[in-house]
Amino acid sequence: MFTDRLRLDDRAVIVFGAGGGGMGTATALAIADAGGNLVAFDITDDRVAETQRRIKASGGHSVGYAGDVRSVDDLANACALATSKFGRLDGVVNLVGGTRLERPGGTSRNAGTWLPLHEYPEDVYEDIFAVNLTYVFHSCQIAARTMLECGNGGSIVNFASVSALEGAPYHGPYGAAKAGVMSITKTLAVELGRQGIRANCIVPGSVPAPLSKAASSNTFDAITDRASLRSALGRRVDPVEIAGAVLFLLSNLSAGITGQCLNVDAGASAQSPLGTDTDYARTTEIRHAESVG
Ligand SMILES: NC(=O)c1ccc[n+]([C@@H]2O[C@H](COP(=O)([O-])OP(=O)(O)OC[C@H]3O[C@@H](n4cnc5c(N)ncnc54)[C@H](O)[C@@H]3O)[C@@H](O)[C@H]2O)c1
Repeated sequence: MFTDRLRLDDRAVIVFGAGGGGMGTATALAIADAGGNLVAFDITDDRVAETQRRIKASGGHSVGYAGDVRSVDDLANACALATSKFGRLDGVVNLVGGTRLERPGGTSRNAGTWLPLHEYPEDVYEDIFAVNLTYVFHSCQIAARTMLECGNGGSIVNFASVSALEGAPYHGPYGAAKAGVMSITKTLAVELGRQGIRANCIVPGSVPAPLSKAASSNTFDAITDRASLRSALGRRVDPVEIAGAVLFLLSNLSAGITGQCLNVDAGASAQSPLGTDTDYARTTEIRHAESVG
């Protein structure tokens, strides 16, 4: 069957950021549903355990690892866990990232998201780079070495952001780090393609994250309104829709695709910067009023 190419039977995949109930968890569940053996990695025991509980309940296979992606040892241990438990490593999803920084134990601090570039404190700039770019570099290095040793090829899926594509106010370090992720992805693709290892990026639009909803529901609602207005589909992206795109990029269905950045943004990037259909309709009304007036 053609659709069998979407299956990941017996393949081992690590998801960095598999907890939290958002797109990381949705991705982990999709991989397990497709028959993949999962290493579910997240920063707290609770989040790892909850994802594992859901995978087990759906009949999937996983092992968990509570660690911090900023630790190269934790990244390496997760790869070693995949090869020791499942005998191979076929996929790595570097999903962790963002502007709200998680601390071991589940506490978080807002990294000062809403600061203009010229006011960004040095320590926050470094934190943002650590959790969005530096770990991705290390994770890709470790994953590539392990996949080369295993000799089965592989697929690496990184997470960038629309903030890397355009000037996003107050996202200076974040957008720069995500642009770096896109660059690393393309470099990996051209360096490792002939060994059967592919690398691609998901570029999410605005996706509701349960953790950010818990932090402030007013902010959450404001972001939902703004993002819905600016997208072609008139809404935010569901975490499950991100998971579907990741599964596609991990699977043989995307065997001819590498070095690409796939926007999963409800059409937000297709929107003209000059305005939405509502803006254009308003301009037309004004023109009409002027011409008859
Ligand atoms: N949510 C959006 O609207 C949006 C938009 C553009 C890009 N992105 C990108 O998509 C990715 C996922 O976003 P999300 O946070 O909304 O997804 P998510 O809600 O699925 O959370 C990801 C998980 O990462 C874990 N995590 C955070 N810091 C960690 C650390 N240091 N070590 C280990 N685990 C850690 C969290 O516990 C959480 O469970 C990120 O790379 C983000 O930058 C998100």
